[in-house]
Amino acid sequence: MRAVTWHGKRDMRVETVPDPTIEDPRDAIVRITSTGLCGSDLHLYEVLGPFMHEGDVVGHEPMGIVEAVGTEAAGELSVGDRVVIPFNVSCGRCWMCDRGLYAQCETTQVRSHDKGAALYGYTELYGQVPGGQAEYLRVPYADFACIRVPEGPVDERFLYLSDILPTAWQGYDFADVPKGGTVAVFGLGPVGQFVTRVARARGAETVVGIDLVPERLEMARRHDVTTIDLREVDDVAAAIRDLTDGRGPDGVVDAVGMEAHGSTMAAFAQHAAGLLPEPAAQAMVEKLGVDRLDAFTAAISTVRRGGTVSVSGVYGGAVDPIPMLEVFDKGLTMRFGQCHVKRWIDDILPLVVDDADPLGTLDMATHKLPLERAPEAYAMFQAKDDGCIKVVFEP
Ligand SMILES: NC(=O)c1ccc[n+]([C@@H]2O[C@H](COP(=O)([O-])OP(=O)(O)OC[C@H]3O[C@@H](n4cnc5c(N)ncnc54)[C@H](O)[C@@H]3O)[C@@H](O)[C@H]2O)c1
Ligand SMILES: [Zn+2]
Ligand SMILES: [Zn+2]
Repeated sequence: MRAVTWHGKRDMRVETVPDPTIEDPRDAIVRITSTGLCGSDLHLYEVLGPFMHEGDVVGHEPMGIVEAVGTEAAGELSVGDRVVIPFNVSCGRCWMCDRGLYAQCETTQVRSHDKGAALYGYTELYGQVPGGQAEYLRVPYADFACIRVPEGPVDERFLYLSDILPTAWQGYDFADVPKGGTVAVFGLGPVGQFVTRVARARGAETVVGIDLVPERLEMARRHDVTTIDLREVDDVAAAIRDLTDGRGPDGVVDAVGMEAHGSTMAAFAQHAAGLLPEPAAQAMVEKLGVDRLDAFTAAISTVRRGGTVSVSGVYGGAVDPIPMLEVFDKGLTMRFGQCHVKRWIDDILPLVVDDADPLGTLDMATHKLPLERAPEAYAMFQAKDDGCIKVVFEP
C-alpha cells in the first residue's frame, strides 16, 4: 500500500510499504477514505524528530471502511462498516479505560518511556504504532476503538471525531466555563476553531479568539467569534479584559502548543536540538526547555482571577519557566492533556449527525488532496501558505 513516511526534519515521503494484516483477534483492517493532517504532525516534522525512525508511517486522524475483522472484534464490527478511528490506541477494558481516561490506557501505556497510551503514527515515545496517512490501517482493540458512523453524509462530517473535535470538546470542558460565561481561545488552527464553535454550542456568551493569520481570524469571525489579531495588539491580556467586563474570561484555552510564534530563545533551542546527534537531541527535547511558551503565559495573564486555564496544545520540554507567582496569586486552576477521544463521542455525535451541521464541520478543510501530495501539503500547512487551515487526504 502507499503511505506517508517520515525521513527526517521536514522530509515526509509517500512510499510503498507492506499491507497491514490481522495480528490479534481484536484487530480490524480499515481501508482509509479520508485522513487528516494535524498540527501535532507538524511537531514530528520539526521538533520531535529525535524520537522518529526513518520509514515510520505517520498520521492519526483516519476514517474508512472495515475490510477485515479479527474473530473477537467480529462480535462488534462487520466488514463494510463505516468507521472513524480515535487517535488514542486504548483497550477499553483496563482500570484507566473504565474511568474514561483513554489517553492513559494501561494496556498500551509506553512504560519504556514513562508515557501514557500509545498513539497512531506518533514517535517511539508513544509506541511507534503505524499511522493512518495510508491506504490501510491496522486498528488494535477495534471492537472498542472504532466509532461507527451512518452512511450518507460526506466524510468531513465525521472525520474530525478522530481527534480535533473531541480535543476541542475536552479543551472547552476543562476550561470550566459556566453557561452564559466568557472564554478566550489562543490559536485559531483547526483545534482552536472547533473550541470556539463548541463554546457557542455549549452556551458560552462571549467567545474571543486570538491568532495572527488573517484567514484563520476570518474563519473564526464567520462563526460568530470576536477576534484579536496578535499583530495589531501589544497587550493581549488587556485587550481581552476590555471585552470581558474588565475582569478577564472565566476560562482560557491554549490551542497553540510548543511552536508558538514569538519566543526567540525557545525557537533557537528547537533549532539547536535539530542539529544534535540523536541521544543528545532526545535529552534536550525531553529535559530542557524547547517549548515556546508565549501562548501559555498569555493564557495565564488573560484569565480572570479564580479562573481556569485549559491546555490542549502539545508541549514537550521539562524546565520551562512558568510564572508561578502569578498562578498562585490569581488562584488559577489548570488542566492539561491528551484528549480521551471516546469519552466525548456520545456528546458530539448528535451534533455531527445533524444535517444543520451546528459545529460547521463543512467549513474546516481548506485543501483536499490525494495522499501522493503529502510532502507539499506538510510544507504548505507548516508555512500556512495558500490559505491553508486544514488538509484532508483522500487515499
Ligand atoms: N491535546 C490533544 O489531544 C491534542 C489533539 C490535537 C492537537 N493538539 C495540539 O493542539 C495544538 C493546535 O493544533 P492545530 O491542529 O489547531 O495546529 P495549528 O498549528 O494549525 O494551530 C496553531 C495556531 O496557533 C497560532 N499561534 C501561534 N502562536 C500563537 C500565539 N503566540 N498566540 C496565539 N496564537 C498563536 C498559529 O497561527 C496557528 O493558527 C497543537 O499543539 C497540537 O499538537 C492536541
Ligand atoms: Zn492530532
Ligand atoms: Zn485500556
